Amino acid sequence: MAKSRLASIRWTLLLSLVILLGCLVVPGLTVKHENFKKCSQSGFCKRNRAFADDVSAKGSSWSSPYELDPSSIEFKDGKLQGTILKTVSANEKVRLPLVVSFLESGVARVVIDEEKRLKGDIEIRHNSRARKERYNEAEKWALVGGLELSKSASLNPDTETGFTKVLYGPDKKFQAVIHHAPFNVEFQMDGHTHVQFNNKGYMNMEHWRPKVDGDTEEDQSTWWEETFGGNTDSKPRGPESVGLDITFPGYAHVFGIPEHADALSLRETRGGSGNHEEPYRMHNSDVFEYELNSPMTLYGSIPFMQAHRKDSTVGVFWLNAAETWVDIVKSTASANPLSLGVGGKTTTQSHWFSESGQIDVFVFLGPTPQDISKTYGELTGYTQLPQHFAIAYHQCRWNYVTDEDVKEVDVKFDRYQIPYDVIWLDIEYLDDRQYFTWDPLTFPNPKGMEEQLDASDRKLVVIIDPHIKDKDGYWVVKEMLNKDLATKNKDGEVYEGWCWPGASHWVDCFNPEAIKWWTSLFKYDRFKGTLPNVFIWNDMNEPSVFNGPETTMPKDNLHYGNWEHRDIHNVHGITLVNATYDALLERKKGEIRRPFILTRSYYAGAQRMSAMWTGDNQATWEHLAISLPMVLNNGISGFPFAGADVGGFFHNPSKELLTRWYQAGIWYPFFRAHAHIDTRRREPYLISDPYRAIISQAIRLRYQLLPAWYTAFHEASVNGTPIVRPQYYVHPSDEQGFAIDDQLYLGATGLLTKPVVSEGATTADVYIADGEKYYDYFDYTIYQAQKVPLLMQGGHIIPRKDRPRRSSGLMKWDPFTLVITLDKNGEAEGTLYVDDGETFDYQRGAYIHRRFHFQASTLSSEDLGTKGPKTAEYLKTMAGVRVEKMIVIDPPKEWQEKKSATVIEEGTRTASTVSVEYFSQTGGKAPYVVVKNPNVGIGKTWKIEF
Ligand SMILES: *[C@@H]1O[C@H](CO)[C@@H](O)[C@H](O)[C@H]1NC(C)=O
Repeated sequence: MAKSRLASIRWTLLLSLVILLGCLVVPGLTVKHENFKKCSQSGFCKRNRAFADDVSAKGSSWSSPYELDPSSIEFKDGKLQGTILKTVSANEKVRLPLVVSFLESGVARVVIDEEKRLKGDIEIRHNSRARKERYNEAEKWALVGGLELSKSASLNPDTETGFTKVLYGPDKKFQAVIHHAPFNVEFQMDGHTHVQFNNKGYMNMEHWRPKVDGDTEEDQSTWWEETFGGNTDSKPRGPESVGLDITFPGYAHVFGIPEHADALSLRETRGGSGNHEEPYRMHNSDVFEYELNSPMTLYGSIPFMQAHRKDSTVGVFWLNAAETWVDIVKSTASANPLSLGVGGKTTTQSHWFSESGQIDVFVFLGPTPQDISKTYGELTGYTQLPQHFAIAYHQCRWNYVTDEDVKEVDVKFDRYQIPYDVIWLDIEYLDDRQYFTWDPLTFPNPKGMEEQLDASDRKLVVIIDPHIKDKDGYWVVKEMLNKDLATKNKDGEVYEGWCWPGASHWVDCFNPEAIKWWTSLFKYDRFKGTLPNVFIWNDMNEPSVFNGPETTMPKDNLHYGNWEHRDIHNVHGITLVNATYDALLERKKGEIRRPFILTRSYYAGAQRMSAMWTGDNQATWEHLAISLPMVLNNGISGFPFAGADVGGFFHNPSKELLTRWYQAGIWYPFFRAHAHIDTRRREPYLISDPYRAIISQAIRLRYQLLPAWYTAFHEASVNGTPIVRPQYYVHPSDEQGFAIDDQLYLGATGLLTKPVVSEGATTADVYIADGEKYYDYFDYTIYQAQKVPLLMQGGHIIPRKDRPRRSSGLMKWDPFTLVITLDKNGEAEGTLYVDDGETFDYQRGAYIHRRFHFQASTLSSEDLGTKGPKTAEYLKTMAGVRVEKMIVIDPPKEWQEKKSATVIEEGTRTASTVSVEYFSQTGGKAPYVVVKNPNVGIGKTWKIEF
């Protein structure tokens, strides 16, 4: 009985105080639209949209000019190769090599290139040194594996002429049906089509052609150069965009393609009520004062889209690093005679186009969201298991102004008993904005500051950006130029632009020599004043260039290998992160620790190396609200270590907003408060009570649940599941929940929260998808379909640490509490992952991974780990870490009389007895049993019989 219900609750904790508050009204800010292109101001976007309109208008009188030459087709070892011919005129056909790879994971990959460019058989204009071929190295940055070809994929012998059919995937449940003329592909599962390429006929590969002078039939005004906002982009290879329509028949929802400040379920983009007028754009940019509910581009891009319908999730990954736009249109089946078997359902059609590069698309047929996360992660990598401190609370502002200031903030947190793990320094710590230096007046003693932090096992994060100040006598710029490691302009000279330091040059991390050099800069004897508890924030890596086109680099700039910036733009950010990661890996010989890097710009694959945040948001309720779908969307897009600036970056939040933001922020995988230099100080101890008390409670709740968070991070690191999960991901059958993006689940713990994101709210509606019992986290009130912002779904075992400490490092040896929420059948289960939270020893077995299971009145702990060379030694260090308390919620009635339980632990000969206390409750609150000090080892196998 999976009935959906809306439940509402009186949100008592804050009730009395929030309604008293008159609220400051923050002036609304909006982005400068004139700084960023609309589709109509981008030559290739306009051309591809116009092409789609033209094709639609012609209807059945038109046929796509692309056909697969049947005589060219070869299939061998899981790979189909052939040549697509594009008919340009009666006597001109352009040859486009096609490779379709069927991967062992069940993913299919379609790559289409252009023979003439591939062979270098074209002329380059503007005297540019740019490469001739289409960019084909995005995979070098984005992919790490998963490319093994399927051994079992085979041609389907039962195929009509004009088609090639390949059976592939697990048990050959999948089939790719390739239609030769016009070229299109249907990806089928269990006999039904789930993904279609080019069935609308929008496929477009702008082939190379020489420039024709004089009047032409087509509008060529943006083919060879293009001007926007006073910047002219030379286009040495002429028009070279690629486009393709991808349809999801019977799928009403599509998610993904971050980063946009928009709802989780993506909107249509061709106008109409509630829809966007512009396509979703992916062109990593420093968008000042970004607007909400918008398809505008932001700082990062992951061109990975999932389509979801009842009990089926499929996806596509468009591996292209150039500027990309995606149009989305939905239609009902009756309007589409081809959509057999999906009558009456909504179909979503997406149209993708990129300025340059290949068509390179991966198709995932699921059918579960977890299958998609896993296979996508096999390709692009899983979230790096972070150091433990990184999942705790981070305190940042632009700026802590002196080393004494940092030390004082550190002391104040302790005085007010608010835990925190990391304090951050924005650009003002630098000497004249030169990275790898300290301002000698304001930060005369950085090591003293770091030592004080280290005494409470706290860390410091400092900002290091890719723009290097052009200044005589600055050793970093001197080395970079001497070694020729900077990005070049279109004429092959070192590029100069403006950023924080004024005139600057940009390190070109596409160059292996630049990675090597960058790595050397972080050694303790080079980046003086840093200790091992210092970590790095890579900002402005889109790259942000204040005087550049759309606040970034000219597209005709040249990178290592003579790739144009246009080709690589969206991976630029992660090349810096990649180099920084290598740098942090081993700052001193033999001292290997997991790096921590926060990045603003990103692409698919960034999850292997970094955390992200949603950039420069504002202290408004709307920005607080949008942070939830943004973080959730990053999670399902493979990059779950995400968060938004708590409190809002620009402007001063009201006390109520700041408080609500902390209550929401504790649910971001990356939990950091940050503020603009022009804002008032807002460290949580500065706010008056009762707000201070409420914020402290929220942060402590985060700390209490760190074992559950770390376990969720571990899960993300091995199978790609999001750390916080949206409704559809957890309840893929419940259609009413698919578009819900304002509540979330923490990992697999069954913890469901709905942060309050509106002013003056005294009640919250939580959507419950199933007939399971839900218990209030704090008082165990049972909601079978009712109320409250933090619920525990019945059937889970949640690990916690209940002793308040100053930092997570100081909790390392603390005992655990297990909360057992029984389901309707009186059962529960959960997992726990623990390691040293710092080194890579877990890769050699130094970890604890347990499964807790409650069934038939017995709670047991079983080992899920596999042994490695470091297991025994690690378990020895953890021998003293035990479970100090267990709370069984809603136990069987018979337990009222229970006074004790029997404990059997491995390695002990006799069973022991532990006392048990039953608490009955009234008013809809569940009874519970507390097991006091069962004293079982967290790394041990044991059983407790009640
Ligand atoms: C950084 O990039 C280089 C070159 O592609 C690669 O060998 C290295 O493994 C990358 N590092 C990380 C952390 O991904």
